[in-house]
Amino acid sequence: MKATAIANANIALIKYWGKRDPELFLPYNSSISLTLNGLNTTTTVEFGGYDQDIFILDGQGIKEGKELEKLVRHLNLIRKIARVSEKAKIISRNNFPRAAGLASSASGFAAFTFAATEALGMSLDSKELSIISRQGSGSATRSCLGGFVEWTKGKKQDGTDSYAEQIALPEHWPNFRMLATIVSTKAKKVSSRVGMAQTIETSPMYSAWLDTIEQDLENVRQGILNKDIGLVGKTAEANCLKMHATMITTVPSIIYWMPATLEIIHSVLEWREKGLECYFTIDAGAQVKIICLEDKVSELTQKLENLGGVKKVIVCKPGQGPKLIKEHLF
Ligand code: DP6
Repeated sequence: MKATAIANANIALIKYWGKRDPELFLPYNSSISLTLNGLNTTTTVEFGGYDQDIFILDGQGIKEGKELEKLVRHLNLIRKIARVSEKAKIISRNNFPRAAGLASSASGFAAFTFAATEALGMSLDSKELSIISRQGSGSATRSCLGGFVEWTKGKKQDGTDSYAEQIALPEHWPNFRMLATIVSTKAKKVSSRVGMAQTIETSPMYSAWLDTIEQDLENVRQGILNKDIGLVGKTAEANCLKMHATMITTVPSIIYWMPATLEIIHSVLEWREKGLECYFTIDAGAQVKIICLEDKVSELTQKLENLGGVKKVIVCKPGQGPKLIKEHLF
């Protein structure tokens, strides 16, 4: 009753922003992402022989607070589906800073769900795995597959048609790159979960977000299939700016950008104007991810590292879906 899984983070090209059902994590809109190699979470889960659930994340015992609530809720969901009552020990390790806007909840809940369901002998396919992972964190849905992935929003109330589907394998576009810049390692003040709920309630821009999303999704799907970096990059950049417009116009306003975030935005626009093809996308945080092709990576990395606010640049390629490994963390 023990298993270990490793899952990669993903970054959305078309963002998930807003839940039509917060209990089941059902989104108002579909989203598309790239699963990244290089940013991952490894998780070992063991059921049986424990008096209480034990959670250790990055060497730290999680004993109280919102984070524990989220983990216990998810573990209870898996126990309910598997019809077991055994307590469990869960040890999890990220190879990148948690809660710094680098999608740790996506890789985290995908690895947790995969390891826990395997430890219980469930052998799920990627669709079933993504439906359960979704209920830990929406973006985790997309970390259940490799390469370019769409999380279809679905229509049903029970959420059985809201899951991840692969648009293209990582090998389809091997020279596609995302450069994750770290400008701040401070945990953000407003979580995505709270931010999106507040947006739906108070932003006058939210309906405009939903009005234009289908066209954005179609452009990025076509851009991926045709390996058209211009179409993918431009659409992803505009989509991210629209999401941030909804955030900025909530009451009270949520502004995730820091001065260094704007410094990178302006630089990308300037570099592009001078012929260096690159685009940006930003999640609910201060970090900026740059979208480009492999032949631009060394020039862009050097330029980014020369900007005052950039602490680190992590180069990410298209990555594989989650897998089981034999080396347990305990
Ligand atoms: C801006 O998946 O972290 O990164 O479902 O409440 O756990 P919950 O939210 P989360 O939100 C991610 C929002 C985003 C966009 C995206 O990844 O699509």
